[in-house]
Amino acid sequence: LVLVVDFGAQYAQLIARRVREAKVYSEIVPHTMPVEEMLAKNPKAVILSGGPSSVYEEGAPRLDPALFAQGTPVFGICYGFQAMAQTLGGTVASTGQREYGRTDVTVGDPGVLLAGLPDSLRAWMSHGDEVTLAPEGFSVTASSPRATVAAFEDVDRGLAGVQWHPEVLHTEHGQKVLERFLVEIAGCRQTWTMVNIVDEQVDHIRETVGDARVICALSGGVDSSVAAALVQRAIGEQLTCVFVDHGLLRKGERDQVVRDYVAATDVNLKVVDAREQFLGHLKGVTDPEEKRKIIGREFIRTFEAAEREILETPGTPVKFLVQGTLYPDVVESGGGEGAANIKSHHNVGGLPEDLEFSLIEPLRTLFKDEVRQVGEQLGLPPAMVWRHPFPGPGLAIRIVGAVDEQRLEIVRDADAIAREELTAAGLDRDVWQFPVVLLADVRSVGVQGDGRTYGHPVVLRPVSSEDAMTADWSRLPYELLERISTRITNEVNEVNRVVLDITSKPPGTIEWE
Ligand code: XMP
Repeated sequence: LVLVVDFGAQYAQLIARRVREAKVYSEIVPHTMPVEEMLAKNPKAVILSGGPSSVYEEGAPRLDPALFAQGTPVFGICYGFQAMAQTLGGTVASTGQREYGRTDVTVGDPGVLLAGLPDSLRAWMSHGDEVTLAPEGFSVTASSPRATVAAFEDVDRGLAGVQWHPEVLHTEHGQKVLERFLVEIAGCRQTWTMVNIVDEQVDHIRETVGDARVICALSGGVDSSVAAALVQRAIGEQLTCVFVDHGLLRKGERDQVVRDYVAATDVNLKVVDAREQFLGHLKGVTDPEEKRKIIGREFIRTFEAAEREILETPGTPVKFLVQGTLYPDVVESGGGEGAANIKSHHNVGGLPEDLEFSLIEPLRTLFKDEVRQVGEQLGLPPAMVWRHPFPGPGLAIRIVGAVDEQRLEIVRDADAIAREELTAAGLDRDVWQFPVVLLADVRSVGVQGDGRTYGHPVVLRPVSSEDAMTADWSRLPYELLERISTRITNEVNEVNRVVLDITSKPPGTIEWE
């Protein structure tokens, strides 16, 4: 077990994930956890994450020197690196010199941590303060233009740290640096795999649920399918899946999900047609967060109704609701300490307060690619495991403007064409997600068949991403874009213009709302 101490960075979970990628099991603990409690978990090593604070700020999280008392290996990153330096008697200064983003780090005598790395590497930095003097016993192994001490180590005591962020993708050799700490300095064994996560979750679910019955929000997406399959593995017959057709689905989606999921698992599946209810409540609503709240609320209401029906069949009460919430949803809803609220994803932030179920969220600490691995582990078919993500609120957040049946029809048709062509081009796996957005309140003039048109634009938003936390616009071939554009303007009434979104995330988000 490696503990990642969260100092309030969006990066803590990313660090934990990289440690798992190195096949070492990791857990995140808040920096407020007393050190005795951390050490009582008997960690093989402790990693201190970055954080938004400066060590000088009033109320900045302090590092308890007791952490170093038992000889546990410790690795400090960014803020963690500075806190470590300060606690062990080094000097941290606020030099007024900041480094943000890409920085060239120069490796000196590489020591153990940086052995085998090139003399210079591009690293992702984000700091205002800098370590000006390493603590006694430490050797300095790297520097950068604005940080004379950018990495240090005291291998005899199992201590090391770096000013940069080895966990982010843009840092060269980041994973290698982490692995070198874990293996060469902390002596961890690389034996942990996804099988362990399945076993662990199965045990945990059994323990939590007991003999109660459970219902699952099955949407057909990767997340809920994997979550349901996991829960089914744990408790079998006690689980009933409920598929809600909220009327915001894509073309043919309901039939396809029901057919595929029942074929792949023999889960109890109940289909609820709630189209009128959802569309009724959404009528005239244009604010994205309002849409999410309404959909979140109606979702739970629908489940409660399904529960009452299921209750009529004899057995123990239904007490739990499974949701396929992933870590990025948790972070972006302000779930990580110090992380800002960007969008309230309906399966986290928009939950009503009068919730009658307890939630089971077996994927809450996982990233998408990890969930896919779990899905494969559970024997789900590739078409399901590799399906593109689709947001819970569905097409409602792909209509900029109020939602109604006619607009849904437009975006459904355009979306079907875009996905069909992407698949035909064999590019499904190159694209993370391919939203098609209808700008329902925008009209532009066009000309078609000698006549003037005054229709709506749709936006193509193909993106590539690793985990939806950051994304880049996909460079789809022009021929493919052309086919999609021609087909949409020809085949979808009301649409006379197709535009391409070339914004990365940040500053954009993947969805338009
Ligand atoms: P954004 O638009 O925030 O999307 O960059 C990140 C990922 O989350 C999906 N998404 C949602 N999923 N409920 C969900 O279950 C939501 O309210 C929601 N909003 C966005 C989005 O499709 C992308 O995969």
